[in-house]
Amino acid sequence: MSDTKTYIQENKDRFLDDLFQLLRIPSISADSAYKEHTLKTAEAVKQSLIDAGADVAEICDTAGYPVVYAEKMVDPNAPTVVVYGHYDVQPADPLDLWTTPPFEPEIRKTEILPEGAIFARGACDDKGQMFMHVKAFEAMVKTNSLPCNIKFMIEGEEEVGSPSLEGFIKENKEKLAGDVILISDTGMIANDTPSITTGLRGLSYVEVEVTGPNRDLHSGLYGGAVANPINILNKMIASLFDENNHITIPGFYNDVIELSAEERAAMAKAPFNLDAYKKHLDINDVYGEAGYTTNERNSIRPTLDVNGIWGGYTGEGAKTVIASKAYAKISMRLVPAQDPNKISQLFAEHFTKIAPEAVKVKVTPHHGGQPYVSPIDTAEYQAASKAMEESFGKEPIPVRSGGSIPIVALFEKELGMKSILMGFGLDSDAIHSPNEHYGVFNYFKGIETIPLYYKHYANLKKG
Ligand code: BES
Ligand code: MN
Ligand code: MN
Repeated sequence: MSDTKTYIQENKDRFLDDLFQLLRIPSISADSAYKEHTLKTAEAVKQSLIDAGADVAEICDTAGYPVVYAEKMVDPNAPTVVVYGHYDVQPADPLDLWTTPPFEPEIRKTEILPEGAIFARGACDDKGQMFMHVKAFEAMVKTNSLPCNIKFMIEGEEEVGSPSLEGFIKENKEKLAGDVILISDTGMIANDTPSITTGLRGLSYVEVEVTGPNRDLHSGLYGGAVANPINILNKMIASLFDENNHITIPGFYNDVIELSAEERAAMAKAPFNLDAYKKHLDINDVYGEAGYTTNERNSIRPTLDVNGIWGGYTGEGAKTVIASKAYAKISMRLVPAQDPNKISQLFAEHFTKIAPEAVKVKVTPHHGGQPYVSPIDTAEYQAASKAMEESFGKEPIPVRSGGSIPIVALFEKELGMKSILMGFGLDSDAIHSPNEHYGVFNYFKGIETIPLYYKHYANLKKG
């Protein structure tokens, strides 16, 4: 193992250069203008897996962007680890808020990351984290220390809801067979407080359209006499919360599994500094559901958020107009055992019901995903815990995250494998935002920790 560590040390500069090359390709899956770049990124990932020592590496076509698959089988009796990650990234806009261009990676120091951070779209989510697995794999292959069989499944549509991956895993169950899915696409508490993600929230995402009069109207001639769809939409959205910030959709909380007092007390032990949190976001106070702490609100409680709202005149100056239509995109983060289809249905029924006669409402569901929780009393989790304890010198804390990786619940359902969410990002990495970055420390800590996972997992499975 110390050989592996030495190999990583000796190849640090190249490991950074190789990541930079990947970060330079704008693989924005949401925007078809970037199609060629996104396909090129898949090729680059495939090549990096061949260079690292994969026996097989291939581009697997799907109805959308391809899945990069690779494997190295070392011993039919050894356990098989399936690595999942994604090579696509979020759109980079608004571009003018980036200090340096999103696809020209640069290392700069930050307050939290004094050793420097790689600034680029995808630096953390997920190219940087996914690539740690490619480099850790290389280090294990080159030092003859890979104790498990390994398979890679790197997709290009995670940021748009993984529309093709479900079909891919259903059609390739044998090819993807293994013992555990290992993912680095989440975060940890802090660089001196390692943690492992044991839960992800589910997601239900809907778009609503409110239509008033059949055309835009003069707001003087008609104002006050007809329903203004923008006014109405705002009123309807506001009514989705009561005075305690509970969501008012009937049945919304029916399937929520409440945590026991013991579980909540254990959660509250994770270090968290509310003042630092507020300072980091430049807010005077936090805001949310009554009766829950900030960390509970963003992990074990379901939420509803407007992600975008538009309609009417938003150009320069003033135009006196009542728009014919108003729109909003609304996400609901779900917790076990809420079902996204059921929640979208409840939302649609309620939203249609609360609309006044004077408007028409259309609700269109977008992608969704089931929530996920993983047990900690398994060899799969314990291997991750031991690996992080060895590399950080501290036992990692199990924590539930507020984010979503919808495909994780499907891996369990379709492939019968649990996922281990051993992520090395920080909440402050600004994923999906301008100036996304990933600590140089975190990148190398990940590359160093991953081989330890394989070592401990192989040992634990030997019994
Ligand atoms: N890697 C993130 C999810 C994440 C980040 C989970 C940090 C936990 C901690 C993933 O790429 C993502 O952005 N997921 C989307 C859902 C998807 C359907 C677009 C999300 O959570 O909004
Ligand atoms: Mn991600
Ligand atoms: Mn993401």
